[in-house]
Amino acid sequence: MSKRMIRFGVIGCGLMGKEFASAAARWLHLEGVGFEPRIVAVCDANPAATEWFTRQVPSVERAYGDYKELLADDAVEAVYCAVPHHLHAQLYVDIIEAGKHLLGEKPFGIDAAANARIGAALAAHPGVVVRCSSEFPFYPGAQQVVQWVNEGRFGRIIEVEAGFWHASDLDPAKPINWKRRIATNGEYGCMGDLGMHVLHLPLRFGWRPANVRALLSKIVPERPDGKGGTVPCETWDNAILACDVRTEDQRFPMVLSTKRIAPGHANTWFIRIQGTELSAEFSTKHPKQVASLPYSPGRPQAWHIVDAPYKSAYGTITGGIFEFGFSDSILQMWAAFCDELAHGADGMSQPFRCATPEEALGSHRVFTAALASERDGSTVAIDWGN
Ligand SMILES: NC(=O)c1ccc[n+]([C@@H]2O[C@H](COP(=O)([O-])OP(=O)(O)OC[C@H]3O[C@@H](n4cnc5c(N)ncnc54)[C@H](O)[C@@H]3O)[C@@H](O)[C@H]2O)c1
Repeated sequence: MSKRMIRFGVIGCGLMGKEFASAAARWLHLEGVGFEPRIVAVCDANPAATEWFTRQVPSVERAYGDYKELLADDAVEAVYCAVPHHLHAQLYVDIIEAGKHLLGEKPFGIDAAANARIGAALAAHPGVVVRCSSEFPFYPGAQQVVQWVNEGRFGRIIEVEAGFWHASDLDPAKPINWKRRIATNGEYGCMGDLGMHVLHLPLRFGWRPANVRALLSKIVPERPDGKGGTVPCETWDNAILACDVRTEDQRFPMVLSTKRIAPGHANTWFIRIQGTELSAEFSTKHPKQVASLPYSPGRPQAWHIVDAPYKSAYGTITGGIFEFGFSDSILQMWAAFCDELAHGADGMSQPFRCATPEEALGSHRVFTAALASERDGSTVAIDWGN
């Protein structure tokens, strides 16, 4: 079977651009997929960043300093764009208008207005496949939780907690970077950086918050500027959002948290669902383990903790006895994007799609309401437009 080669351009060759290069380089890890990304062109404002690609990625034929040159390159049919948040709107709109498919990074616009610009471009160009990066739901343990929700196993939902926690900013000596400045990262702060990861599954399940009460914290007020001085650290470090979820037949509390200063945590993404018939928990803190507590009235309440086998959305050469990790989740997300691009949403070999622009829009609605809630301490209603 000949594989469908998808010719990619990468705009933004930093931390995440390299993760894509790594995933594409080990595509042989996947079994039975009839599509493959090939990175043929790269672009970064910093020549050292593109140089890493031209040195390490043999398929790269052209390196650009101006993304418009990459968009004019007819060999490029799809783009991965991983640039700071203040550039999302302009670049994503230009990519969509150039007719290229796009996997864009979250938060998909620095604020709600930027996100709306991207949405308008997409509405005018419905033929391009546009998705938002969010890899954690591809962990086997998270996929198990997805399956249980889809099967309606939880009964009446009692409450939900989901979060994404880091501790790297606990160190006040960590220098400032673009992710700690409002001009480049946005007013959302840690919500914009981490929140789409947290909202991806709740929004996929249809669990839309009707309102939110937010508690946002700035914990480290200034940071070294890398030149011997200090500068204000402007963005929110931590956010706790208490949400009131209303679905067609259920109403329950959902607490979402995004933290840059959560002592002891490094990239801990988790979801906990409590229900009258089943409770379950998955956290990347214990990436092999899924905890579940099935309940029948009058019966004992016992947590079952199993080492989830390496059973990913797309098959791999890795045996079920081994562990799944961050770079595996990135590979699986890329497989889902390429599958959808090659075969359409209805022709994918498994049903779990990458986060959609509608889900990214939903996250902006929640973050915008959270900022309003923080300003005056009120509970803010979220208008879902229907
Ligand atoms: N999915 C995830 O797990 C995850 C993790 C980290 C970051 N991100 C997201 O990825 C995006 C990039 O973050 P990062 O950590 O890779 O940042 P980074 O700073 O490591 O890389 C960004 C790159 O963009 C380049 N750049 C800046 N302006 C440019 C321009 N005009 N044209 C071309 N290139 C330009 C920079 O030179 C840099 O190399 C952000 O949206 C961020 O939220 C996602």
